[in-house]
Amino acid sequence: ERPSVIPALHHIPPGIQCAQDYEALADRFIPAPAHAYIAGGSGQEATLRANLAAFDGIGIAPRLLRDVTAGHTRVKLLGRELRHPVLLAPVAFQTLAHPGGEIETARAADATDSCLVASTLSSFPLEDIARATRGDKWFQLYFQPRRESTLDLVRRAEAAGFGALVVTVDASVQSPSLRARRAGFRMPDDVRPANLQHHVQPGQVTLSGGQSLIFQGLMSEAPTWDDLAWIMGQTALPVLVKGVLHADDAHALQAMGVAGLVVSNHGGRTLDGIPASLKALPRIREAVGAGYPLLLDSGIRGGSDIFKALALGADAVMIGRLQVYALAVAGALGVAHLVKLLREELELCMALAGCPTPADITPAFIER
Ligand code: FNR
Repeated sequence: ERPSVIPALHHIPPGIQCAQDYEALADRFIPAPAHAYIAGGSGQEATLRANLAAFDGIGIAPRLLRDVTAGHTRVKLLGRELRHPVLLAPVAFQTLAHPGGEIETARAADATDSCLVASTLSSFPLEDIARATRGDKWFQLYFQPRRESTLDLVRRAEAAGFGALVVTVDASVQSPSLRARRAGFRMPDDVRPANLQHHVQPGQVTLSGGQSLIFQGLMSEAPTWDDLAWIMGQTALPVLVKGVLHADDAHALQAMGVAGLVVSNHGGRTLDGIPASLKALPRIREAVGAGYPLLLDSGIRGGSDIFKALALGADAVMIGRLQVYALAVAGALGVAHLVKLLREELELCMALAGCPTPADITPAFIER
């Protein structure tokens, strides 16, 4: 018998002593099918495992006797100074983890000066999320079946005060993972994409004889290079692209005027078998050169992972699953505590490695 699900706490349980502890505790706070949906990766989960293995597989090369007393974690991104390089990744349907969902997350972002990235598929309207944090916030855009609907989302994000668009391009075909399906996961009726009027589920696609569900069905609405150029022409907001793993794509995106990239494999939730994003990072940094905004996500579970990502070329990182786990355990308090832990873990790592500031964290601090 599985113990019953615990409602979110109003305090931090003593079992939480590092960021990753939220992962171990989360399955007590999230119903089993929803937990499988959040935790799982696509296919046989090779990419999901590769993300974690990539961080474990590289070592830090510390330097001794350096003065770090002027240390800090500030980074510059898109012309803004962020207090720390930990962003909250876009995560859909956060009411699966906590009834307050994205609003709790936004309050945590506000309390910890974290840049929040709100998902197109949020369970609260983007305007409500925007109101819950005074800090930096970006809107993650999924292209919609009709250009008018896509543009409508962009106009709403602009009006609500989001400072950048993050266009996710690696997840045009989405379905719950095998793990989620085996666990009997179905999206509960009361968990809806609050920003969208019409949300097409895979089962609702109509096809005529001989057509493929994937190519002519689901992918017929997927954005192309032309669509990306079109949306960039419609908005004055900086546009970042999320889901980049190939150096040639990175180079082409930079050349067309994209403001920055998120090196990501969607936390191992899209195409199984693609590389760990940390592995792809050095080549992408090389392709875009120094000074071009690069973020990384997928597999970050602690401060030393953030250090490794920064060392290999990222300006900042985004946190996906840990954010949801902390939300489930203790709502806004949990997410704020998670960010605090990640920051402290990063600072400790920087101090012991001899890097007073993020700019000091270079490939020289990775073991060869
Ligand atoms: C995601 N991710 C995601 N990405 C995105 O661009 N839009 C979205 O709506 C979602 N939704 C979503 C839901 C859930 C439950 C998860 C776990 C992830 C991907 C997310 O932004 C990020 O790329 C990964 O989660 C990063 O990997 P880690 O930190 O989970 O290992």
